[in-house]
Amino acid sequence: MTLDDLPAVLAIEQVAKPTPWNEKSYRQEITDNDKSYPTALVVNSQLIGYIVWWLIVDEIQIQTIAIDPAKRGQGLGRALLTDALNKGLKQGATISTLEVRESNVVAQSLYQSLGYEVVGKRPNYYRDGETAYLMTAHLK
Ligand SMILES: CC(C)(COP(=O)(O)OP(=O)(O)OC[C@H]1O[C@@H](n2cnc3c(N)ncnc32)[C@H](O)[C@@H]1OP(=O)(O)O)[C@@H](O)C(=O)NCCC(=O)NCCS
Repeated sequence: MTLDDLPAVLAIEQVAKPTPWNEKSYRQEITDNDKSYPTALVVNSQLIGYIVWWLIVDEIQIQTIAIDPAKRGQGLGRALLTDALNKGLKQGATISTLEVRESNVVAQSLYQSLGYEVVGKRPNYYRDGETAYLMTAHLK
């Protein structure tokens, strides 16, 4: 992901999340955070999804993932997340963690299919008050 991608990222973000990240948040991931891997999925010159993950020592923290609503259900979310996990594995990661909304059963299903399990609950985690599930996957 580059700064030039931000208009397309923010357009998907607005429709993909109840509490979207703003431009400043993505800008910081691209320019200021050397532990962050913001990645865009571009097909035929069109940005159709993205993932942001951090590598903290041996832990891949998935910060966000979204696919353009018109392109969902085609395996692209799985491909983006698998690619991030493989890249982190090559750099020595052994575990991955993420938070997901209690109501987001689609994302939970994706995560479970890749080996993530719910290991905790974080009440009031999101700005709108929703509970987060903390999920982890052991990669090795
Ligand atoms: C979560 C998200 C990234 C999945 O992307 P996607 O490209 O549609 O997902 P895929 O086609 O790769 O599907 C992967 C798995 O997700 C689950 N899934 C996808 N669509 C689903 C649906 N409509 N109902 C239930 N499960 C679904 C399934 O487990 C699926 O595996 P399967 O195809 O073997 O059944 C996408 O729905 C999205 O952008 N959601 C909005 C943003 C969001 O909630 N992000 C996560 C929290 S930050």
